Amino acid sequence: METLATLDDLPKAYVDELTQKNLVPLWPSLREVLPPNKPKPQTQVISWKYKDIRPLLMRAGELTPIEKAERRVLVLSNPGHGLENMRASSVMYLGMQLLLPGEWAPSHRHTPNAVRLIVEGNGAYTSVNGEKCPMERGDLILTPTGMWHEHSHEGESEVVWLDVLDLPLVYYSEASFVEEGEKAKSNNEAKPLVYGPGIVATENFTRNDNHLVKYPVLRYPWADAKKALETIAENSSVEMVQVTYVNPETGDDAQKIIGFSAIMLRPNQVLKLRQRSCAMVFHVIEGDVNIKVDSVQHDLTVADTLCTPCFTNVTLVNTLDKPSFVFVADESPFQRKLGLYSERERTDI
Ligand SMILES: [Fe+2]
Repeated sequence: METLATLDDLPKAYVDELTQKNLVPLWPSLREVLPPNKPKPQTQVISWKYKDIRPLLMRAGELTPIEKAERRVLVLSNPGHGLENMRASSVMYLGMQLLLPGEWAPSHRHTPNAVRLIVEGNGAYTSVNGEKCPMERGDLILTPTGMWHEHSHEGESEVVWLDVLDLPLVYYSEASFVEEGEKAKSNNEAKPLVYGPGIVATENFTRNDNHLVKYPVLRYPWADAKKALETIAENSSVEMVQVTYVNPETGDDAQKIIGFSAIMLRPNQVLKLRQRSCAMVFHVIEGDVNIKVDSVQHDLTVADTLCTPCFTNVTLVNTLDKPSFVFVADESPFQRKLGLYSERERTDI
């Protein structure tokens, strides 16, 4: 590929005049914005150990009352994007959130979509548009764009969850904002969850409402996802034992921008993934997993999290002689909608 002229190859007076007129020559930057063969992601491979996060999160609980934090979160920030920008990847935001017994994180709604993957504790609830979703370890709870949500805690031990939002993308689009809800705690009026995945109370099922795509399932219990994975593993010889969290109303991904799934690794399984055009996040729900990204290996255990950039060779290794379980978040729904998604063969075989 031909090397192109740089800005220094142009007369300074010409460049100054372009600047003055708000004009920019493309050719000095062409290879940067359209790199050959594959993107040049800012996203770096990085892992966050829960044993590092937990004491600092508990300290935050001592230092900052919930009223002064609203959401008490330590953001898992990828240095490739600049720590202050609070991105795990160009599309995904990750945060570990702490709620202490008796605390209440007040009602609000915002344009970014969020999910919670519960890491530890019990007795807390997220209420989504008035529906009370218990937060048990491994559960996935949706708070899609525009839906009111608040968190409260009626239990006795700390509750921690992993937040996954499409905040970086929505912020980049200059579409990110929040609205405050009622000041009064409304959780007591929240309805209990009275159905399982795919079974909804008819009164909550508003098929004809054109304003929002509806989300009839807001809580995906871990017990159900785990059972599905174990059933697949038992009845099939498929290499990748994986379930995807979907919206049963649309049959599409559970949310529009970030996709969510869970993988079961069989005892001592080595699982080599194809290269993908999007960044991915892996979070261990149960077990011990080594994740090798290109040549670097990351040893992860329960509640540890890893982010990988696009077009990397990712290998998951279950180091136990019993199954391990990994939650996965990725940008494929967003990329597919825009026709940007692709997969490639690995470059290490
Ligand atoms: Fe929120």
